[in-house]
Amino acid sequence: MNQPVRKLPPPDFIQAAVQQTSVVTPLTSTEEERKRTFLRMASHELRTPLNSILGFSEIIESEMFGPLGAPQYKEYAAIIHASGARMLRLVNQILEIARLEAQAVSLNPRAEPLDSALRDVLESLKGEISARKITVTVLEPEYLPSVTADPRGLRTVLTNLIQNAACFSPEGGEVRVSADTVGRGVEIMIEDDGPGIDREELPRLMKPFEQGENVLTRHTEGAGLGLSICDLLCRAMSGRLTLQSQPGRGVTARVKLPSA
Ligand SMILES: Nc1ncnc2c1ncn2[C@@H]1O[C@H](COP(=O)(O)OP(=O)(O)OP(=O)(O)O)[C@@H](O)[C@H]1O
Ligand SMILES: [Mg+2]
Repeated sequence: MNQPVRKLPPPDFIQAAVQQTSVVTPLTSTEEERKRTFLRMASHELRTPLNSILGFSEIIESEMFGPLGAPQYKEYAAIIHASGARMLRLVNQILEIARLEAQAVSLNPRAEPLDSALRDVLESLKGEISARKITVTVLEPEYLPSVTADPRGLRTVLTNLIQNAACFSPEGGEVRVSADTVGRGVEIMIEDDGPGIDREELPRLMKPFEQGENVLTRHTEGAGLGLSICDLLCRAMSGRLTLQSQPGRGVTARVKLPSA
């Protein structure tokens, strides 16, 4: 018998859930507690079934316990795995925004050398970058300074910004990463030669679920959450994210963080 198809809640529903958890100061302790309960529940209830979907589809695809009857099953298991991974990324992004807005993220700022953070990030993006034949040039890598930042937070910010730069660049394009000490801080710049963004559009795109028209020409899927996560994370690490762009002239993302 066919099971009824359970539809995913539409983005508006998720957005409303995130907005419900956004900070409205001052919060009573009951509201704080309710927000934290929502985060605990959402984190557990959404991630646990996804882990089963990912784990078991991988086992089926690898035919670990014996061959599958038809080649289509292998292909479908791979599709289930890829869709599950996409959904897990989305769930993690939504939870990250909710946690950051609820100021429920435990950050551990410490002296973090930029070169090792960039090495980790570029390694994790290796597949996407080479698939699009993008060259990422790190300017003067031997002189990269250290910043005071949460190691995971720093890597999340760099990953999202380099991923955007690579994603919206033309195939074979170049992304440049550089860093300079400015006063008592460090400014990290990520520049691309992609289509750029209208100046008036920039504030809107920093908000969750907002995307530009170029999203139709992008080369991976996304929900429009990366920039707002970067913005919230930079603020939580006593820093700032700013974007500069003109249509046709690429985007320059600047991350300012305290120096180490
Ligand atoms: N380097 C860039 N060049 C051109 N457009 C960009 C660039 N970075 C961001 N954008 C525009 O801003 C939008 C929002 O970016 P954001 O990173 O928040 O979301 P996304 O990349 O679409 O999805 P996600 O990051 O959640 O995977 C993008 O959809 C795109 O329209
Ligand atoms: Mg993005």
